Amino acid sequence: MKENEFIATTMFGFEEILASELRELGALNVRPLNRAVSFTGSQALLYKVNIGARTAMRILKNIRSFKVTDEDSLYDAVYNMKWEDHFSVKDTFMINSSVNSPLFRHSHFVSQKTKDAIADRFRMKTNLRPSVDTSDPDITINIHISNDRADVSLDASGEPLFKRGYRAAQYLAPLNEVLAAGMILMSGWDGTKPFIDPMCGSGTLPIEAALIAKKIPPGIFREKFGFMKWKDYDDLLFTRLMESMLNPVDLNTEIYASDISQDAVDLTRKNIKKGLLEEFIQVKKIDFKEFVPPAEGGMVMMNPPYGERLKEEEINLFYKGIGDVLKKNYAGYDAWVLSGNPEALKFFGLRPEKKIELINGSIKCKFQKFSIYSGSKKQKTIEP
Ligand SMILES: C[S@@+](CC[C@H](N)C(=O)[O-])C[C@H]1O[C@@H](n2cnc3c(N)ncnc32)[C@H](O)[C@@H]1O
Repeated sequence: MKENEFIATTMFGFEEILASELRELGALNVRPLNRAVSFTGSQALLYKVNIGARTAMRILKNIRSFKVTDEDSLYDAVYNMKWEDHFSVKDTFMINSSVNSPLFRHSHFVSQKTKDAIADRFRMKTNLRPSVDTSDPDITINIHISNDRADVSLDASGEPLFKRGYRAAQYLAPLNEVLAAGMILMSGWDGTKPFIDPMCGSGTLPIEAALIAKKIPPGIFREKFGFMKWKDYDDLLFTRLMESMLNPVDLNTEIYASDISQDAVDLTRKNIKKGLLEEFIQVKKIDFKEFVPPAEGGMVMMNPPYGERLKEEEINLFYKGIGDVLKKNYAGYDAWVLSGNPEALKFFGLRPEKKIELINGSIKCKFQKFSIYSGSKKQKTIEP
């Protein structure tokens, strides 16, 4: 039997992390691409990766690939696909397109042509046209055109997978859940030493850390996935997989979420409650400077303000203060800091051991690792 071909999309910088996650979940022929990973596997695998992959944004199932030369060839090829095998005229649908081709200038135009071809095909077969719904469609179709090659896929996730289902509320600009999970996986934290986010905002990093440490699949809270509306949807298989993938392990360490803002702490508590993680994350309203971390050492990961609303000297001073506190209070810790303000990061006064580029929303960020040694060892410090 021919294996299904899938593409998992992700964020900039997480291709290799996602590829290992997919291999671990049983994917075959795993190949990292640009902000995506291709792989093959069964229907069960498709469900598993939707439930279990922490760094995937969407999973797409390829249904046809063909060459295109112009808008007519695109229309004809899409019209000739057996759409009635995939969904019914009563289902609503939506097209997402991405185009990187001199043949087509606007992705909006490609979406329009594809939509017309599908609707015309249904009208020819049934005398009726399916309706488009761009907010909550039953079926999402993805078309990707690269030069003269078009790949048409069904979106198996529907709502993107960073929408885990645990977020009750958010504080200012929360990290995307996929970004937070990818940062933790990248750091190599294995759940055996304390994890602290002392500027937790709405708690995304500690919540993703708890899910990782307890081996709770990130999709377990979701009620809907795109594939549930497909004609071949197997509810029994899905339910069995959901049950078999939920085997939480004991947490072997402490996870802390704290913030100076009462609002942030309240929202973090709400999100933790919705994620059923109250037992596993300790939440506190406290200034980062006052927080006393466990003496054994571990991981401190944070996403401090980037200082858009502050004067340059103020933000540089704020970052210098963070560096000083790390040196003073966090001996034995690995500190990972994500910031969209690389200039301010230089004021930490610590030499980064690793520098990784990531994108938070549309902001280019540096994700840097600093190893904080105990007083007896010579601290690697630098002047800004
Ligand atoms: C960019 S937000 C963090 C967003 C968070 N990662 C999330 O996913 O929601 C920065 C946070 O740092 C907090 N903060 C600023 N100064 C602080 C300080 N001195 N001590 C503790 N938290 C602080 C702010 O209240 C804010 O919630």
